[in-house]
Amino acid sequence: MAFVTNVPVFLAMFLASFWTAASELKGSFDDNFSIMWAEDHFKTSEDGRIWHLSLDKETGCGFQTKQRYRFGWFSMKVKLVGGDSAGVVTAYYMCSENGAGPERDEIDFEFLGNRSGQPYTIQTNVYKNGTGGREMRHQLWFDPTEDYHSYSVLWNNHQLVFFVDRVPVRVYKNSDKANHFFPNEKPMYLFSSIWNADDWATRGGLDKTDWKKAPFVSSYKDFSVDGCRWEDTYPACVSTTTENWWDQYDAWHLSETQKKDYAWVERNLVVYDYCKDSDRYPTPPAECSVSPWS
Ligand SMILES: *[C@@H]1O[C@H](CO)[C@@H](O)[C@H](O)[C@H]1NC(C)=O
Ligand SMILES: *[C@@H]1O[C@H](CO)[C@@H](O)[C@H](O)[C@H]1NC(C)=O
Ligand SMILES: *[C@@H]1O[C@H](CO)[C@@H](O)[C@H](O)[C@H]1NC(C)=O
Repeated sequence: MAFVTNVPVFLAMFLASFWTAASELKGSFDDNFSIMWAEDHFKTSEDGRIWHLSLDKETGCGFQTKQRYRFGWFSMKVKLVGGDSAGVVTAYYMCSENGAGPERDEIDFEFLGNRSGQPYTIQTNVYKNGTGGREMRHQLWFDPTEDYHSYSVLWNNHQLVFFVDRVPVRVYKNSDKANHFFPNEKPMYLFSSIWNADDWATRGGLDKTDWKKAPFVSSYKDFSVDGCRWEDTYPACVSTTTENWWDQYDAWHLSETQKKDYAWVERNLVVYDYCKDSDRYPTPPAECSVSPWS
């Protein structure tokens, strides 16, 4: 399938006041992040603003925030590995733990590389207490390897929204009943990494990573957080404070403009939705019946 080109005009209409609160991080990489592994595969531009993660046959690389956050707006601009990147996965995610512990909460963006000229797919997933399996896959309406685009998460006690350049591509709602699907208790670190996943990522593992094309490099800039740092004194991280725009009524559901964008995404870009995969889930999981439109 080719890139979707008929981007509707309303994508150009952005909300003004709602979004102005996010502020870029000041200070150096070291103030807010640490390298998780393979320091020699991590480079920054001379001014320190752009970060490059590289993958070769030896290893990939990753970084994480030093702080944990509970609720907020998390955003970063990413330019993905270009050319033939089949098998390569660039991940950008939040997780309550440093490892893949059995009780972790997690919010994932994964970018699955492809053969040259073939569209990239983004996969999103949500874990609660170690249970994931909630994948959705979308195509993008642009080539994410040509330029930086922003990928963001809005997270409060009412909804979790995945944004690509301010277009909501996935809405994952809490329900008003106690449930086992909405991650809202555990603070999370933010991570990014690049790794080889040619056992599954591209056409179910049929397309293997071509190491002659290595190193594969993904680049990052403009990380911004407007959220609640877990260390902040109580009750800053409680979802009922009135100080934070991301916790206010307007951020509990999509705006009218966002609903239009989201409807367009639903019609044109969804490649896979676990809620509709009846082979895998003969009875759709509970969260699939919570309407994203409410
Ligand atoms: C980044 O680190 C600085 C220095 O430790 C700190 O003041 C700031 O709050 C941190 N930013 C975030 C978003 O955690
Ligand atoms: C989380 O999962 C573990 C098993 O991995 C289980 O023992 C525990 O009860 C679960 N906690 C909640 C709050 O559901
Ligand atoms: C790669 O390109 C093929 C052919 O267009 C497409 O079917 C597939 O969804 C793309 N993405 C991945 C991750 O395989």
